[in-house]
Amino acid sequence: MGRLVRLSLTVYLNGRLVPYEEAVIPVEDRSFLLADGIYEVARVYKGKPFGMEAHLKRLARSARELRMPEPNLPEIERVSRELITINNLSEATIYIQVSRGAYNPRTHAFPAGEVKPFVVVIARPFSPNVSGHQNGVKAVTTPDQRWARCDIKSVALLPNVLAKQKAAEAGAYEAIFVRDGYAIEGSSSNFMAVLDGEIRTYPTCNYILGGITRDVVLDLARKLGYPVREEGIPVDALPRCTEMWVTSTTSEIMPIVEIDGHVVGDGRPGPIASALLEAFMKLV
Ligand code: PDD
Repeated sequence: MGRLVRLSLTVYLNGRLVPYEEAVIPVEDRSFLLADGIYEVARVYKGKPFGMEAHLKRLARSARELRMPEPNLPEIERVSRELITINNLSEATIYIQVSRGAYNPRTHAFPAGEVKPFVVVIARPFSPNVSGHQNGVKAVTTPDQRWARCDIKSVALLPNVLAKQKAAEAGAYEAIFVRDGYAIEGSSSNFMAVLDGEIRTYPTCNYILGGITRDVVLDLARKLGYPVREEGIPVDALPRCTEMWVTSTTSEIMPIVEIDGHVVGDGRPGPIASALLEAFMKLV
């Protein structure tokens, strides 16, 4: 970790399949210069992408919201499957990034003339955090300093980077953003807690990313008969929550057993998180 390691992977670079080492982006690519790009991360279980349709739908929505041309979704889907096969992947992630493209000279406004997005797809092996699932993880809260369009999955992630670093330095797994007194979502995950016997999570709006895993988990919770309320959790109420967890493509359902130094429940993953994780694993 921490270095650019040589990988014997084939990746997709704007229409071509190339060795990892040769996959370079133009120096004036707008996602590099201006964070003018969008992305998706999908999980592959036993060689099969999970929730790909939902991820591609969200990619198209992000493009629309940023007034980028509609990405070629069938091509991205086909290439994703091809990369799984070529790279002989079983448990893996697929990273898709679409930049508005490379132009010169650098301008803030959209480039004049035809816009040619630049598409990258990287599929790589992934090991889930099994010990986190079994024992739970720590979290910290942090003020939300992001913009007001967190519903767009853009690569402009500096506040998320700083929040995750704060968590790492505190020996925690995730940082939970607090906006207007509510714990709204994690730096790279959605946040759920059990308050007064109900599963609570912030409603989808411009301040959080509408997580694919969030949708799946809320659906499972309802099917299992747990009461669900899509309403914010006040930070003041966090000490009263009997369970907490975050959801994301890579974390799946990750129980939180300590937040800002306070033990959650009995310090072990709770029964609801465990039941949801079991149902989730069956589904995938
Ligand atoms: N993160 N909220 C934020 C801010 C995220 O970055 C993510 C995903 C989620 C969960 O979304 P989903 O369930 O669709 O993965 C919520 C990805 C995994 C990442 O940035 O690596």
